Amino acid sequence: MEIIIRESYEEMSRAAGQSVAKLLNSKPNAVLGLATGSTPLALYKELVRLHREEGLDFSQVTTFNLDEYVGLRRDDPQSYHFFMHQNLFQHINIPEQNTYIPSGTTDNYEAFCQWYETRIEECGGIDLQILGIGSDGHIAFNEPSSSLGSRTRIKTLAKQTIDDNARFFDRPEDVPIYAITMGVGTILEARRIILLASGANKADAVAAAIEGPVTSMITASALQLHRDTICYLDRPAAGSLRMTEYYDWVEDKRPGAPAQVRPHFRTSAPTRRELI
Ligand code: PGA
Repeated sequence: MEIIIRESYEEMSRAAGQSVAKLLNSKPNAVLGLATGSTPLALYKELVRLHREEGLDFSQVTTFNLDEYVGLRRDDPQSYHFFMHQNLFQHINIPEQNTYIPSGTTDNYEAFCQWYETRIEECGGIDLQILGIGSDGHIAFNEPSSSLGSRTRIKTLAKQTIDDNARFFDRPEDVPIYAITMGVGTILEARRIILLASGANKADAVAAAIEGPVTSMITASALQLHRDTICYLDRPAAGSLRMTEYYDWVEDKRPGAPAQVRPHFRTSAPTRRELI
């Protein structure tokens, strides 16, 4: 795992934005996995800025969102469909038909979940998956005890998640109890993963995910098994990590490191000359 700590939420989001832009500049038809919630908001703002001011092109990009609440229509202001339209899609040049978000209102959830998985595969798999982390250590809506091999399916939300999300709803009883979510297994198939975390309220979950044991009780800890995950943290979110000094040291020494220490996307196999 690569751990990148920035002093503020804005700096952390800009750094993550550069990473997304680098991918799109080298692979214009990349497939992005997208997240909702408060954390990626500044990243999406940065992507909109890069589109407007620096011509970052989304015309060939395809996106798959992680999750959606069951029972909310796509035009409900609390739905993730609405969130993505408001905060990203309407501000960039992505064709609407290239944006996939799980349906919260399908008649047949089982068939929909299977179709969603197949569609990801047909599009070539996810190149870069953006993730937030819940205060209970979840990624997407994979609540504690979710199978680390799980696929897209319906989950019953944990009480802590319902309480965390109550701030977005008028009344606590309006918070949906079920969600349709990509599984941990689905997420781990992305070629690269970016985990974003901001704020002291995430510090314990972040420390458990990065430095604790791999366990289904903190589904973000499964990212330790992924070969190309970068965690972008602001200083408060990094507050409970034991190895912060080492992560800062690694970053400080990065400019002088051999190139393979900083993995990057390539579109072709390495040449013989690069290998010997
Ligand atoms: P947040 O949610 O970004 O709103 O904190 C993160 C999550 O629950 O995955």
